[in-house]
Amino acid sequence: MNIHVNEALGLFHLQSKDCSYIIQLVEGYPAHVYWGAQLHHDQSLASILELRERCSFSPTPVSSSRTISLDTLPQEYPQYGTSDFRQPAYQVALADGTRTTELKYSGYRIEPGKPKLDGLPSVYTESDDEATTLFLILEDQYSGLKTTLLYTVFANHSAIARSALFEQKGSATINIEHAMSASVDFADSNYQALYLSGAWVRERHIQRRDLGPGSIRLESRRGSSSHQMNPFLALLRSDATEDRGDVYGFSLIYSSNFVAQAEVEQFNQTRVSIGINPFDFSWRLEPGQSFQTPEAVLVFSEEGLGGMSRTYHRLYRTRLCRGAYRDKERPILVNNWEATYFDFDADKIEAIAKEAGPLGIELFVLDDGWFGKRDNDDSSLGDWFEDRRKLPGGLADLAKRVNEQGLQFGLWVEPEMVSPDSELYRSHPDWCLHAEGRRRTEGRSQLVLDLSRKEVCDYLYETLSSVFSIAPITYVKWDMNRNMTEIASATAPSERQKETAHRYMLGLYDLMERLTSQFPDILFESCSGGGGRFDPGMLYYMPQTWTSDDTDAIERLAIQYGTSIVYPASTMGAHVSNVPNHQVGRITSLAIRGDVAMSGNFGYELDLTAFTNEEKELAANQIAQYKEIRSLVQQGDMYRLLSPFEGRGDTAWMFVSEDQSEAFVAYFRVLAEPNGPIRRLTLKGLDPDKKYIIEHGATGNTAVHAGNTLVEDGGSPFCVAFDGEIFGGDRLMKIGLVVSDLSGDFASSTFRLKAISN
Ligand code: DGJ
Repeated sequence: MNIHVNEALGLFHLQSKDCSYIIQLVEGYPAHVYWGAQLHHDQSLASILELRERCSFSPTPVSSSRTISLDTLPQEYPQYGTSDFRQPAYQVALADGTRTTELKYSGYRIEPGKPKLDGLPSVYTESDDEATTLFLILEDQYSGLKTTLLYTVFANHSAIARSALFEQKGSATINIEHAMSASVDFADSNYQALYLSGAWVRERHIQRRDLGPGSIRLESRRGSSSHQMNPFLALLRSDATEDRGDVYGFSLIYSSNFVAQAEVEQFNQTRVSIGINPFDFSWRLEPGQSFQTPEAVLVFSEEGLGGMSRTYHRLYRTRLCRGAYRDKERPILVNNWEATYFDFDADKIEAIAKEAGPLGIELFVLDDGWFGKRDNDDSSLGDWFEDRRKLPGGLADLAKRVNEQGLQFGLWVEPEMVSPDSELYRSHPDWCLHAEGRRRTEGRSQLVLDLSRKEVCDYLYETLSSVFSIAPITYVKWDMNRNMTEIASATAPSERQKETAHRYMLGLYDLMERLTSQFPDILFESCSGGGGRFDPGMLYYMPQTWTSDDTDAIERLAIQYGTSIVYPASTMGAHVSNVPNHQVGRITSLAIRGDVAMSGNFGYELDLTAFTNEEKELAANQIAQYKEIRSLVQQGDMYRLLSPFEGRGDTAWMFVSEDQSEAFVAYFRVLAEPNGPIRRLTLKGLDPDKKYIIEHGATGNTAVHAGNTLVEDGGSPFCVAFDGEIFGGDRLMKIGLVVSDLSGDFASSTFRLKAISN
């Protein structure tokens, strides 16, 4: 990690672990020179840029030089209006209504470590030697606008964190209409775009397509990052694979309207930018005020998509997620949502907890329906007081009864919402987002509270603080079940209405900061109808997210695989639910449901009182197995082996400990294959010089019989596989393991590998 500056040449060479990023000043314009594999630093880097005179349709802002046109110059933070016709990084309306500004270099500084971003989530450091930050200062002489571009490089991650800080130093009020977090110009277009799209119960499916002249634009206009499109875009060299080739990732630490786009222009240069969606956004900047954009995290990998994912995983797991649970093993939970929906009482909950304790489950989570008069989803959001009809002794009594079964107690809330049929709404009808005089569009019979207003956030802070103090609550599921409509605030002046969606997010971030600091021992899991807000912004406050409302094991293969492109397994909630599955009606074995859920933060979401003895025995084995591999899944490096988006949909992945002494492999065969070929699973991430002993998991199809082993050998849910044969890491990675002996559809098999000392 280093930042080299050659002031005479106007050269800034940023070296993050394994990558270089080079900026050069051209007549005061910060030009983008290079981003890719790490280069040695020397003066020759100043001659990489190739400037060429083009025709009159690429105007030249410097009258003495016809080779400089902003229409063709690769830039760091391009602007519209002075000869660049491509997608700008920002646009500002000045007091006179004009929109031409020209940010030019006015200085720089370098600081050790990484600054916190005011009011926004961001990657952080624990000591200054982990990172270095360049502040590149640009100014528009005419308006007094000052924009500082922040670039942080890391000692341990092949990543660069970027954002921009706008300050109005001039004397007039200006309006920011567009402010990207990062913009990068690539020299050619021989790339494919990869991104994660979907819908409710079908989140983060992988899309990969060629770039060509024109634009690819990914965005959300829903007031949240959304189920439909994740705030992430990668460019891959066209021949890049899971394991090889250059990959450039762009991930935005933000939970609301975003845009990520790639534009291929006339000379096949490609401009990528990511940031707050300019659609329905503007921000008024009075003299002396500032505006900080969210942070974008750029990751470069020469080791394909897998290499990029592992960089995001490590960075986000260790330096985005925070709190007591960041490095702690997450509890195995049982949640009553799919078990009871709204139809429960304290006795029913206690009965589920009574079954859960002996199985080894550690936490009970009481989901929706415990408050107000909520017997269905028509009412009561906002009325955060216990429903004594269902819980005569309240939450304190229920938590005590659950604790007596040996389980911790967790609670569901949906604080950002209000039901029109609620006491809160009747008292404060103007507290929701709405446009005066217009219909208030409902979604699931609920409206969105206006978190751009401080008094609303303060009320929620007080209310939730009381709720979380009623009982020994160790876990909170923070849900959010609709998108925003009529985005306007009753208290904002007309010229600031377009700030509402972003101000909402700042209010939410502040609320979450206050609550998570006040309750440091609570494990918070965010949720938005499953994965509607599975983004790095939420992970800064809550280290895990309910991945999807789709709990079907086979659908989850695609969802969890796609999610793993950016997010580590420790952030993904994954539960075993009932069959026929409530979302797709599919029937799968308890074994595969367990194996899929074990690849995230494991839990159950079904009525344990309905389990047969055989199911209880298998569940106990699953829980025992998960406890043995939990730290590997939650803290290890993930290697994807087979993609559900290719071929027959078979899926496999593995988790390897940092010292490569242990690994956990999960293989899922979707459909049985008649008279098929011998299939081998080639492993990854092992030490080629180490020897490994392999054990079968006791839960998948190959080892249904191995349930007995638990009893026989007095403890381990794993049993020796392949007759105890020892395998070299090299052989496992070059030749692999035969996995074609599974029988039936929806089959799975898990293995644990342990290195042996010679
Ligand atoms: C949506 C969540 O994703 C579900 O898990 C459940 O908590 C329901 N909301 C409750 O309304």
